Amino acid sequence: MIHIKSDAEIEVMRKSCHLAAEVLTMIEPFVKPGVTTNELNDICHEYILAHNAIPAPLNYRGFPKSICSSVNDEICHGIPSERKLRNGDIVNLDITTILNKYHGDTNRTFFVGTPRKRAQRLVETTLEAQQRAIETVRPGAHLGDIGAAIQKYVEARGYSVVREFCGHGIGLNFHEEPQVLHFGTVGEGLELKKGMTFTIEPMINEGKADLKILDDKWTAVTLDGSNSAQFEHTLWVTDTGCEVLTRTNGTAF
Ligand code: MF3
Ligand code: CO
Ligand code: CO
Repeated sequence: MIHIKSDAEIEVMRKSCHLAAEVLTMIEPFVKPGVTTNELNDICHEYILAHNAIPAPLNYRGFPKSICSSVNDEICHGIPSERKLRNGDIVNLDITTILNKYHGDTNRTFFVGTPRKRAQRLVETTLEAQQRAIETVRPGAHLGDIGAAIQKYVEARGYSVVREFCGHGIGLNFHEEPQVLHFGTVGEGLELKKGMTFTIEPMINEGKADLKILDDKWTAVTLDGSNSAQFEHTLWVTDTGCEVLTRTNGTAF
């Protein structure tokens, strides 16, 4: 079942989403060569608690940490550890907050130190694909429009779209219906209606789309070892288009 949110629910959810977005802005200056992903986890954890919210990943289906941190060939759901980030790495930090029971879910891929040309092109392409997808969202559009916008742009640039993970409805639940695929055909799939809230979070691989899950049961990595990038926003369908709830005035993302 798809939960259509009232304007009053959106107001509550907007606060959670803004907090999640602020966490990304807050953590950015700490993403430097030499920092461990555990240190980034702990800073985010404390910040979220200090703002009267809960980090949704912690203990979610057994996930052991408060954020996901996915480095280089890690696609998503990387577990923060004593791994030190190195110059030239790319790292995705995925933040999900629960504030007044509502979830806000957002992630960005950051450059550690000086970006390599190849990594820069991959990350820029992933961001642009996400933004193009967001622009398709309005009442009467279809979920397939979102997937098609991403797939078309990304594949034309020689990259591939991960199939095993998708965007999702969100609200009182971390993950609810519908599933938002990052590939598809214009005009196909569910028709969008005002009050729907969901994420768009394409995972794009430099090489092939195939993945495997590491022995930690969480970390998804590319099978061919190529880099993978991701950007995520939570949005809601308005009367005329959409509002990106995890995009604050301060961020260009
Ligand atoms: N935040 C992720 C998403 O975008 C889900 C993380 S699940 C966790 O849907 F358990 F790994 F935290
Ligand atoms: Co999500
Ligand atoms: Co997320």
